[in-house]
Order: sequence, then structure tokens, then C-alpha cells
Amino acid sequence: MALELVTAGESHGPALVAIVTGLSAGLVLDRDAVNADLRRRQQGYGRSPRQQIETDEVDVLAGLRHGRTLGTPLALVVANKDHRNWAWGMSPWPPEGEPAGKGKEPVTLPRPGHADLAGAMKYGLADVRDALERASARHTAVVVAAGAVAKALLAAIEIEVAGAPHDEEDLQRRIDDARAERDTAGGFVEVRARGVPPGLGSYATRDDRLDARLAAALMGIQAVKGVEVGDGFALAQLRGSQAHDEIVEGFVRETNRAGGIEAGVSNGEEIVVRAAMKPLPTLMKPLASVDLQTGEPGEALVERSDVAAVEALAVVAEAAVAFELARAAREKFGGDALGDFVGAWRAYLERIPWRRTR
Ligand SMILES: Cc1cc2nc3c(=O)[nH]c(=O)nc-3n(C[C@H](O)[C@H](O)[C@H](O)COP(=O)(O)O)c2cc1C
Repeated sequence: MALELVTAGESHGPALVAIVTGLSAGLVLDRDAVNADLRRRQQGYGRSPRQQIETDEVDVLAGLRHGRTLGTPLALVVANKDHRNWAWGMSPWPPEGEPAGKGKEPVTLPRPGHADLAGAMKYGLADVRDALERASARHTAVVVAAGAVAKALLAAIEIEVAGAPHDEEDLQRRIDDARAERDTAGGFVEVRARGVPPGLGSYATRDDRLDARLAAALMGIQAVKGVEVGDGFALAQLRGSQAHDEIVEGFVRETNRAGGIEAGVSNGEEIVVRAAMKPLPTLMKPLASVDLQTGEPGEALVERSDVAAVEALAVVAEAAVAFELARAAREKFGGDALGDFVGAWRAYLERIPWRRTR
């Protein structure tokens, strides 16, 4: 059974939900480890005060018993503590009583760079909030929770995944400068996966390619506008003799320009992928917009927002990559029971001439 993730949840709705299907039975989950990742996502330089209002914690509604997966759909929930301020405005059912709290007034001035305008047109919405609530990156909280579960599965076969901001020594300064001018900033993140054996993904079809899958996983995160695998864009300007990783005795490589993937298949080297994040589009000094109701020019919606979320993106990207690698590993090694999964991995490693080098 394939490992799959589906999420639901609006930014200020009651809760965020993730359902993970296809997990092996018998995997021990550590609640503290999941919550630690949720906390990492909320931290980072440049994030908004909302992160102090909400301390995310995971709850499990199904698929787990006494800390062990049952091999049935795992239902993860992260409550939106801020929902109490939006109880009327984001009530799932027609709200009772007089309008109160946030979200009473319709949003009619779409923000450039957000889902607001395209979403309102696509779905025929009079209140832009009906688009922005789901398009918001708030729901990456449950993506991170699902990623923590995927990391636990990967740990059983000695794969580790870690994300961090990339080449951003001046990140704090850029964020400070942006904040001082009531502007926003973007940046780069990098995710590395160690211990990935050769043979995850395939060149057989486009949908099997591990590079395509990781790129889609990263592009699936809000505000990611570019992805590279290994030396990616820089490779385009090199000669072939400089761009590839020679195979030396023991079938290892002394360089890793390919970022651990050749022809859509992991090659046994460390997997290295990067994502570029655009500057966040909600601006305290709003950009020009046009009112959906009146057609009159105006200024885009201003709502509490981060100055930058690069460190948070690193955590979300780590989760997204971990989930996709876990999916690929589950395809390769099967395993309704965790022991079957690990046993198939061991047998495979005995068959191939591969030793972890980094
Ligand atoms: C972790 C994270 C936090 C974000 N926080 C904000 C934010 O506070 N304000 C904002 O305008 N955009 C934020 N974004 C980006 C928007 O959600 C995103 O730009 C928007 O939904 C439009 O989608 P697109 O940029 O993928 O085209 C965040 C993105 C991520 C990954």
C-alpha cells in the first residue's frame, strides 16, 4: 500500500488535519519528537507574534495505539488556538448571535502574490477570506507533523533528513532591514538526506523519478519559486567533464554534484535539494490593489504577517522531503509490518555493493 498524505484545515479554522495512509504497522512514534518539529516550524527569525499565541501540539485521533502505528490510516490534528478570536468569523456552521471577533467584514482588496484574486475568481468568492484561509501556509503545521512520522519510518532504515537555511549568513540582517522598512524578505533553504541507498525512485516513468517527486514536494510548499537538485542551476554553465561525479573503487563518488540522484534514481550519495523562497507577499506597506466589489483602486489587505519565514520553510521542506523519501522507500521495500520493511531493506543491502560513505 502506498504511503499517502492528505491534509485539511483553514488558517483560522478550528484545527488542521492530516491523514497518512500506508504506514507500516509497529512503528513507534514519539510525541515529543513530533511536537519538537512543530515548535521548530514556529520559531525562526522574522516570524509574526502569532507564533507566540499558538504553541502547536499534535493530537492523534486514529491509527495509533499505545504509541505504535496500527498500519491503518493515521489521523493527526493540530488545533488552531487562535480560532477563539475567529469563532464567529471562521465558524464552520452558520454562526449564532451577533458578529463578533475577527473575520466579520469581508475582504475585498486582494493582495498581490497571494491566492486572493485568482482564488476569488476561480471559486466565485465574494469574500477573499474564503480563498486565503486555505492558501495560507498555516497548514504546513500538519505537513510537519506528517513529516515527523515519515522521519520515524526512515530512521528504521537509517535514513536521516535535515533542512536548514542555505547561504544566508546575512539572513538576519536582510530581515532586520526589511522589517525596518516594513517590508518582507525571502531566501534559500537546503535539505540533505543521509543514508539513502541507491535505488529509490526510477527512470521508468516521469512519475517515478525521485528528482521530479522531490521537486514537486518542495514546489508544493507556499512561496517556493525555485528548486534545484545537487548543483542544479550552476551545472548548466559547466562542461560535462566538470559536472559529473566520477565513479571510483568501491562504487563511490568523490564529488556529489548530482545531489545523490541520477536518472531519477537515488545513487547512494547524500541527497541534496534546495528551494528558493520569494519574499512574503503580505506587506505592512501594502501594494496597489483593486476592490472586488466596487472596482475602485485601493490598497491590498494588511493582516498580521511574518517578515520572513525562511527558517520555518527549512523545517517544512525537511518534512516534505522526508515524506517523499518515505513514500519511495515504502514502494521499494514494501512492509505491512515494520519488520518486513526493515527486513527487505537489509536483504537489499546485502545484494548490492553499496556502503554508506557520508
Ligand atoms: C512557513 C511559511 C510561512 C509563511 N508565512 C507567511 C506570512 O506570514 N505572510 C505571507 O504573506 N505569506 C506567508 N507565506 C507565504 C504565502 O503563504 C504564499 O506566498 C502564498 O500563499 C501564495 O502562494 P505562492 O507564493 O506559492 O504563490 C508563508 C509561507 C511559508 C512556507
